[in-house]
Amino acid sequence: PSEKGWLVSQMYQFQGRWHTQALLQGLLQYQKHFEAKDSDIILVTNPKSGTTWLKALVFSIINRHKFPVSSGDHPLLVTNPHLLIPFLEGVYYESPNFDFTELPSPRLMNTHISLLSLPESVKSSSCKIVYCCRNPKDMFVSLWHFGKKLASQETADYPIEKAVEAFCQGKFIGGPFWDHVLEYWYASLENPNKVLFVTYEELKKQTGDTIKRIAEFLGCGFIEEEEVGGIVKLCSFESLSSLEANREGKLPNGVETKAFFRKGEVGGWRDTLSESLAEEIDRTMEEKFQGSGLKFSC
Ligand code: A3P
Repeated sequence: PSEKGWLVSQMYQFQGRWHTQALLQGLLQYQKHFEAKDSDIILVTNPKSGTTWLKALVFSIINRHKFPVSSGDHPLLVTNPHLLIPFLEGVYYESPNFDFTELPSPRLMNTHISLLSLPESVKSSSCKIVYCCRNPKDMFVSLWHFGKKLASQETADYPIEKAVEAFCQGKFIGGPFWDHVLEYWYASLENPNKVLFVTYEELKKQTGDTIKRIAEFLGCGFIEEEEVGGIVKLCSFESLSSLEANREGKLPNGVETKAFFRKGEVGGWRDTLSESLAEEIDRTMEEKFQGSGLKFSC
């Protein structure tokens, strides 16, 4: 166990990665019981890197014939993305008897687990992994605010300077963040048919083009420009965050769905991080990503 108070709870190290107690319990079940199928699609993110958005986008892409985005009764209009797509270690923790074989094909699921801790069947099958990464300063700040919303008093009072220090040293859910990102980055270079690496920033800047890249990677065929535009609009921050399902709903674990929508911006860290804290993260990022070809300019 690590020092108490870092954002959400005490954390535990397993296979060199940090986990909350609940997610570690889920992970152990998931490693033991989950059997990947070749047709599976697994979305992988660090917390607060655009998971909700990616879930909505990929759900819309793969179901675009079943649920045309232009129709008025699309599931995303009435259901939060987290309720449509199971979070593997969360489900294994909360409902160990959940039947994953019941999910419609292709099964769409998500995880925060590092590549090295994924069940063997995920690595050996032909299932596809879409990894979305976000610049560490925005992601840290997003988790910082999320943690405060959910937190106990002890966590809410935790000094941000200590949180940044812990983050840079690697104490982060599923982290060290740097190792998590690099593992998937190299995997996407080595095996581009298996792992697609996208960033929150490119999704923001070129949403349509990134949707097309994801669709092509998943073998979903050609998507008409009009459909791409429909998906961009349906899954936009403005549209999703204004829906009742996302403003008023709750997940089975009690977390309010509105907690997943805050600002949805690139570079918003400036409102929360002092210059010196931002520099501390930048310095660590430069050191850890050196020679990898990975860079964030925001
Ligand atoms: P901010 O806290 O910076 O606003 P996750 O889904 O991984 O938990 O990440 C949450 C972050 O993604 C939050 O970032 C949230 O506002 C942002 N987000 C949620 N839905 C989004 C969308 N449709 N488009 C862009 N950003 C979105």
